[in-house]
Amino acid sequence: MTAALFQPITLGGLTFPNRIAVAPMCQYSADDGSATDWHLQQWMSYAMSGAGMVTVEMTDVERRGRISHGCLGLYSDQNEAAAKRALDAARRVAPAGTRFGVQLAHAGRKASCQRPWEGGGPLKQGQDPWETVSASAIPYAEGWHTPRALEDDEILAVIERFGEAARRAERAGFDFIELHAAHGYLIFQFLSPLSNRRTDRWGGSLENRMRFVIEVARAVKKAAPRLMLGARLSVKEWVEGGFDVVDAIEVVKALKAEGVAYICASSGGNSPHQKLPSGPGYQVHLAEAIRKGADIPTRAVGLITDPRQAETIVADGQADMVALARAFLADPRWGWRAAATFGEAIPAAPQLMRAVTTMEHWMKQAS
Ligand SMILES: Cc1cc2nc3c(=O)[nH]c(=O)nc-3n(C[C@H](O)[C@H](O)[C@H](O)COP(=O)(O)O)c2cc1C
Repeated sequence: MTAALFQPITLGGLTFPNRIAVAPMCQYSADDGSATDWHLQQWMSYAMSGAGMVTVEMTDVERRGRISHGCLGLYSDQNEAAAKRALDAARRVAPAGTRFGVQLAHAGRKASCQRPWEGGGPLKQGQDPWETVSASAIPYAEGWHTPRALEDDEILAVIERFGEAARRAERAGFDFIELHAAHGYLIFQFLSPLSNRRTDRWGGSLENRMRFVIEVARAVKKAAPRLMLGARLSVKEWVEGGFDVVDAIEVVKALKAEGVAYICASSGGNSPHQKLPSGPGYQVHLAEAIRKGADIPTRAVGLITDPRQAETIVADGQADMVALARAFLADPRWGWRAAATFGEAIPAAPQLMRAVTTMEHWMKQAS
């Protein structure tokens, strides 16, 4: 019998060969938003990871929306050409049916920061910092840049940028787009009552706070109607008085009505004061709550590292898919490991068949 992890799934008309996803992971290695050889090797490697869904890192829709000078973007012709180059190469080595998506984002008040290995804090004078923008002029934390609150017409312009980036994503050859409505970046800054204190049509009630993400989804869908659209959402902010599961269910119902086909249930990221209980599968219950509450396919993420743990999540109906970040970073053949654990065929190129035999031997020894 096929393991639940290895059953295909169709989301928004796009079929994935299995339920395993590479989660988006910033590499801070782009050149003014353009993918470099670093991305080329990463995407090629994830193409051969056994995952049916490869989600390319947070990719910003405008230059000032980047977290750091090294963040990926889709705001210029050069960005589009560089993404196409890396994606074409990855596709050439990927097993048939592997799907590639890009996570479209804007960092908002969390932009203009150093790369993690340079400290990760806000860029200082002399490090070429830039003005940050957000829903309201509230910094992420003490000592961070105070963003400028976007004017109404500027909000509309940012929404248009999402549409333009979606068009570029389609031309570059991606199969799907994932909206980044998580981790305290601009979309989430609008959703949270803690970072959005506006009194106009973009703030106040949940209906107003979700207007931005709904308009973004609409613009993206209109610009790239052939691409499947999903979203990653911080379902819970883990701060008192913050965005929570009941709000998330309403937002997801509205996104679903706009054609969003899956939700990756993540959490946190909007405040350094969050009380996030980390541990194996710490966000799986959030995927389950959204799946039940909004009747939409979900992808669980967060310390899913073991193939049997992943299988249980999908087989028990807690989520429809699993996404792994650090596990794939550490082992870009994690999908093979999962396949070998359940006696499933490993979709590898013939050049790699000797490695497949070795992997199967390792997994037999481990069980
Ligand atoms: C190096 C690194 C970069 C990340 N970049 C992104 C990103 O671009 N977009 C995003 O939504 N999450 C990002 N994350 C979060 C992961 O996608 C994932 O949600 C988180 O690491 C928990 O999953 P894990 O326990 O499997 O690593 C990043 C995580 C890591 C480790």
